[in-house]
Amino acid sequence: MSLLTAKAKLDKNGFLDLAVDPTLDLVAEINRLKKEKNAVILAHYYQDSEIQDIADYIGDSLGLSQQAAKTKADIIVFAGVHFMAETAKMLSPTKKVLLPDLKAGCSLADSCPPALFKKFKEKYPDHIVVSYINCTAELKTLTDICCTSTNAVAIIESIPKDQPIIFAPDKNLGAYLIKKTGRNMVLWNGACMVHEIFSYERIIKLRNRHPNAKFIAHPECEAHILDMADYIGSTTGLLKYTMNDSATEYIVATEAGILHQMQKSSPHKTFIPAPPENNCACNDCPHMKLNTLEKLYLCMEYELPEIILPDWVIEQGRASIDRMMVVSEKAGLVAA
Ligand code: 13P
Ligand code: SF4
Repeated sequence: MSLLTAKAKLDKNGFLDLAVDPTLDLVAEINRLKKEKNAVILAHYYQDSEIQDIADYIGDSLGLSQQAAKTKADIIVFAGVHFMAETAKMLSPTKKVLLPDLKAGCSLADSCPPALFKKFKEKYPDHIVVSYINCTAELKTLTDICCTSTNAVAIIESIPKDQPIIFAPDKNLGAYLIKKTGRNMVLWNGACMVHEIFSYERIIKLRNRHPNAKFIAHPECEAHILDMADYIGSTTGLLKYTMNDSATEYIVATEAGILHQMQKSSPHKTFIPAPPENNCACNDCPHMKLNTLEKLYLCMEYELPEIILPDWVIEQGRASIDRMMVVSEKAGLVAA
């Protein structure tokens, strides 16, 4: 460990307070560090395009978890948000898991504080808990089985029909699953700040201006938005849909980062981000976008900030993810 590494410290917000030499070729440096440290960069589709372009694997929550579980790397650099890096740590507890910015949280995970959820759960003693993976590691310790947007239907359908279910924390995904599976679940009242802001009226107007465009949406969106959709799916589902479908224009209701891979995979097609309520860039997730190439470089150089979880959280939380992995594999939902 160099003297500089030993001295590198996080400030109180979990940020490495170091300036990056502006003449550095960050892409070359990150690639050098990847080799030297046997590190792998896993990036979610909502990351900035320059981070996606340097990643070893880009995917949705299920694909990223599967990669984290099977990687042979010594260090997992997670270009995503906190709950994703925690999941990687639970799946690979002996590896060092780094998150470029510890403040990269998630409004959906924050909408379900474990202490409140524990009390809520006590009201339904005969229910089992299915939690969307977008929740804290501690919430996973209160969960029987996790799901992602890719496997959620398969997970619900794997549970006996007479078994009552609490679904947390996303009420929009929960409502979509009730409709899709016919199961009557008790829902926790949480939501994602990015997927809740799409404007029904502005989408209708946009569709009128682009009559040949398909409207595609992530199931974290509200029901009145999903009701208009030609296709509903996880980020990977949306991407694959645009690759295999014959239309040439799409209005996309999810975080705008996914458009980078859509455009790369289908350069001849047009992708339009669905408009939010205000004239803001609210369909950029402010948490995902905290990660930058500079922070990615710093975190690889100094191996900070690192995700550390208590052993009991890893032991108790992991069971809910392992059960999800088994059902996903049985359903053939394995990322390439
Ligand atoms: P998926 O990529 O698994 O569809 O999840 C979307 C999301 O909101 C991640 O934060
Ligand atoms: Fe959380 Fe929504 Fe951001 Fe995904 S897009 S990380 S669910 S706030």
